[in-house]
Amino acid sequence: MGILSGKRGIIFGALDENSIAWKVALEAKKEGAIFTLSNAPVALRLGTINELATLCQSVVIPADATNTDDLDKLFDQSIAELGGKIDFILHSIGMSPNVRKEKPYTNLNYDFYLKSLDISALSLHKILQVAYQKDAINEYGSVVALSYIAAQRAFPFYGDMAEAKAALESIARNFGYHYGIKNKVRINTVSQSPTATTAGSGVKGFDKFFKFADQISPLGNASAEDCAKYCVSLFSDFTRMVTMQNLFHDGGFSNTGISMNIMEKFEEI
Ligand code: NAI
Repeated sequence: MGILSGKRGIIFGALDENSIAWKVALEAKKEGAIFTLSNAPVALRLGTINELATLCQSVVIPADATNTDDLDKLFDQSIAELGGKIDFILHSIGMSPNVRKEKPYTNLNYDFYLKSLDISALSLHKILQVAYQKDAINEYGSVVALSYIAAQRAFPFYGDMAEAKAALESIARNFGYHYGIKNKVRINTVSQSPTATTAGSGVKGFDKFFKFADQISPLGNASAEDCAKYCVSLFSDFTRMVTMQNLFHDGGFSNTGISMNIMEKFEEI
């Protein structure tokens, strides 16, 4: 018996085997959950999600997470496929056209900016609002969205995704209040270390920053596999009273000023 035995979920955002959502799906399967997998139609064509579906014996349901009609159908189909209401949701969705096109923060394209916010933040609100209005999530259900510390501090290379993550965390807090009152549904964000995925590596200077964060953090960077375990613990009944939180999963990066490792690099200067 795994810790998610008997639970039904929807996992958004597995593109390929590097995706954090991919690792969460494997871990959730290992812990006994059943779930559907969802991604944008274009990602289904470009990625390898069908391989994951075979490994997890899951159905893939296309949905653009910015489109509430798609989400409405996704919930109906998931509930029919899994045989009941949903117990957990992973929001592992992010994309910034400004970051992709290497637009500096001081020269953003505002149409792109709105798209970044819609895909990376408002999509969480849309998923929750559709679920709330359809009463699609069971009591003590758990929703987890992935965030990054650029929501709190300046990371010059992260562009408009910084605002997207700040909005995402705020949506988790505020919807967490309303859904908690209505149905004891829990909503949290997990603020993850830099991770080598399609979205992560798309950020300019990622390799250098990955190494820097690894040397600052007392435990080193948290891997995608460790992140998956943490998300699964948040879906489980072991964390039933955790809600409206932004939870750092970063090897200690967020509470470290400077490390001896980094200090030593400046010794000869
Ligand atoms: P990834 O590129 O594998 O996953 C991003 C996913 O978002 C893709 O599957 C993509 O198809 C999906 N997506 C984009 N537009 C969509 C839309 N309109 N509708 C539905 N899905 C859409 O990369 P990764 O790193 O696994 O990203 C997952 C989450 O983790 C993102 O929110 C990201 O910001 C966050 N994160 C990533 C970190 C990293 O360094 N890789 C660090 C901290 C947070």
